[in-house]
Amino acid sequence: MNIAIIGSGYVGLVTGSCFAELGNKVICTDNNRKKIESLKQGIVPIYEPGLEELIRNNVKRKRLKFSPSIKEAVRDSEVIFITVGTPSLENGEADLTGIENVTRNIAVYMNTYRLIVEKSTVPVETGNWIKRTIQTYIKKKISFDVASNPEFLREGQAINDFMHPDRIVIGVESKRAKEILINLYKPLNAPLLITDIKSAELIKHASNAFLATKISFINALSRICDKTGADVKEVAMGMGLDRRIGRAFLDAGIGYGGSCFPKDVDAFIKICEKLGYDFGLLKEVKKINQQQIEFMLRKIKDALWIIKDKTIGILGLSFKPNTDDIRNAPSLEIIKALQAEGAKVKVYDPQALPKARAVLSNVKFCLNPYILARDSDCLLVVTEWDEFKELDFLRLKKLLKRPLIIDGRNIYEPKLMQKLGFTYIGIGRKPYG
Ligand code: UDX
Repeated sequence: MNIAIIGSGYVGLVTGSCFAELGNKVICTDNNRKKIESLKQGIVPIYEPGLEELIRNNVKRKRLKFSPSIKEAVRDSEVIFITVGTPSLENGEADLTGIENVTRNIAVYMNTYRLIVEKSTVPVETGNWIKRTIQTYIKKKISFDVASNPEFLREGQAINDFMHPDRIVIGVESKRAKEILINLYKPLNAPLLITDIKSAELIKHASNAFLATKISFINALSRICDKTGADVKEVAMGMGLDRRIGRAFLDAGIGYGGSCFPKDVDAFIKICEKLGYDFGLLKEVKKINQQQIEFMLRKIKDALWIIKDKTIGILGLSFKPNTDDIRNAPSLEIIKALQAEGAKVKVYDPQALPKARAVLSNVKFCLNPYILARDSDCLLVVTEWDEFKELDFLRLKKLLKRPLIIDGRNIYEPKLMQKLGFTYIGIGRKPYG
């Protein structure tokens, strides 16, 4: 199939290169010419395991190409995926100007039947708006379909998520659109849910809001564990063994970040508000998430007493492991708060240092965890990179001014850390040391 991907960001690049890998001919486009020029030279603007290789292989086999021309992409492709960003406006609503802009362009350039698929996360009813916009701007009488096919890709494992999805959701209103999309996804042999467009749109927001709710639920429990001396990991395990609950997304810590959950929860609250429903539960989810950072800062103060002039070594900057993405990363807020209190901040991250350099100031960037630990008053685990689980703790202990670890992601075992001679403070963990 000939496929156009409009918007070569994270979702667009993964989707485009995976469709090419499945044997389709894909054109990825973007209004950022510089980005397209770099991609043509094989420079991939994001770190995602396996993506660069996938792009390289498919470009070589002539199944994937990059073009700055949306006209070329629309003219050459029967199926057009819209994968542009839908960032948050100041009031939390999703900004749909990118989607509208692309839709008008598609209407102007299409010269025969096209299936336009929204993949970006959008409010329910966006499909209707896309349809109306195309009808308004189209020049000739050309038939077309609109479909919703939300993405559920997790950064750091997006290619695997694409190739082995739990489910593929397809929202359609015509047989033709349904058949095209079923055929396109056939090679994945994954469970398909065919539904109407509005339900598909809602599935995406509902799924992310539900996952965020699970995280805030366990984070709220971590406070109770801290107060009672219970262990949140044990509690999560005990809850998760119930198949109706499941263990996934019950890791307590400093809260969710990234380009999806914070934005999508905000947008969903707004969508519901506009529809006349006050989704108070989600407001609480958001509140608990914000409080989790304050909870962490309180722990730092309780351990160090005075923050001013203390050197704090931050292990991890990305919003989660296996990505260099620092959008809405809790690390940024924590660093800002510590600096406001007069702390000296050192940082290390296996991938995110280049991106962090562009946004952080008055911070010492370290090339490894040991340089970070040297003369620090404490180590703060902010991202659960595997690398941090296998450090040489005795070496770290010698380098630190005092053997204090505050673990915002609960990656270490309190008892073991105590044995190694550390004062260890987790989030809702049974206290030792
Ligand atoms: C998410 C959704 O999972 C994906 O389906 C959607 O399409 C895009 O948004 P992503 O943002 O890549 O994916 O990350 P995810 O793995 O879901 O984690 C989001 C945040 O929640 C991270 O900051 C992570 O640290 C945090 N998290 C996750 C927890 O704090 N605890 C958990 O148990 C799980």
